[in-house]
Amino acid sequence: MAEFRLPAHSVVQKGDYHYAKDAQRTHTRVVQVYRWQAETQANPRLEQYEIDLERCGPMVLDALFYIKNHIDPSFSFRRSCREGVCGSCAMQINGGNTLACTQALSDLADPVQVYPLPHMAVMKDLVVDLSHFYAQYSSIRPWLQSDVQAHPDKERLQSKQERLRLDGLYECILCACCSTSCPSYWWNSDKFLGPAILLQLQRWLQDSRDDYTGARLDSVEDSYRLYRCHTILNCTNTCPKGLNPGQAISSIKRQIALRK
Ligand code: SF4
Ligand code: F3S
Ligand code: FES
Repeated sequence: MAEFRLPAHSVVQKGDYHYAKDAQRTHTRVVQVYRWQAETQANPRLEQYEIDLERCGPMVLDALFYIKNHIDPSFSFRRSCREGVCGSCAMQINGGNTLACTQALSDLADPVQVYPLPHMAVMKDLVVDLSHFYAQYSSIRPWLQSDVQAHPDKERLQSKQERLRLDGLYECILCACCSTSCPSYWWNSDKFLGPAILLQLQRWLQDSRDDYTGARLDSVEDSYRLYRCHTILNCTNTCPKGLNPGQAISSIKRQIALRK
């Protein structure tokens, strides 16, 4: 259920200013970062860090590493691949959800502000709890379901046309930028699957090797799981991989309408 009362200690307060030691003032950039840890019972704060651009790479993720390596080793954020393929470093940067590792600092206006993904429970600093998101992913059975026994020595073949139907779907890295930008997901994520998971559902609906199209459509037909999408399209506008979850959701609704 949507929670309309703000939790105690949720107001973000102004944090400290951290100077970049020994840096030329003309070669610095200030990055404001949300910091919070449960143990202190204190409000979150927006700390301001001066980044020495001579000692920092070009991306927002590089600035976060600069803070962790040179200023505060207790600073927490997720990352792995640093090239836009693992989805770990999704966060809100200057008001939009995106990947810190593919977002250039030079493309951002001042002040650069970095927050955790919106409307998610924060575990520490920029790390949010994605347990529910992954449980929803698991609920759509994101694997090939077929009545045909797999041959131990052969692949399940597709034509080129069948394979093309997966374009725009298989590239999803499950970063959750889209779901956490969707107002309907903010308020209804207890039932609504959200755009990321519905795009994944469409990926399996479109797979010519999968025999469970009917059951997959049954699982969302006439339910909040699908129809809490009101075509707001924040999801499509924010996807850092250029995918179109809004279109995928419309396609699922169309497939349900056509079989009635
Ligand atoms: Fe991320 Fe885009 Fe996949 Fe959504 S559709 S989870 S924004 S890659
Ligand atoms: Fe949300 Fe995207 Fe639908 S922003 S309401 S899932 S079109
Ligand atoms: Fe993997 Fe950014 S670190 S997507």
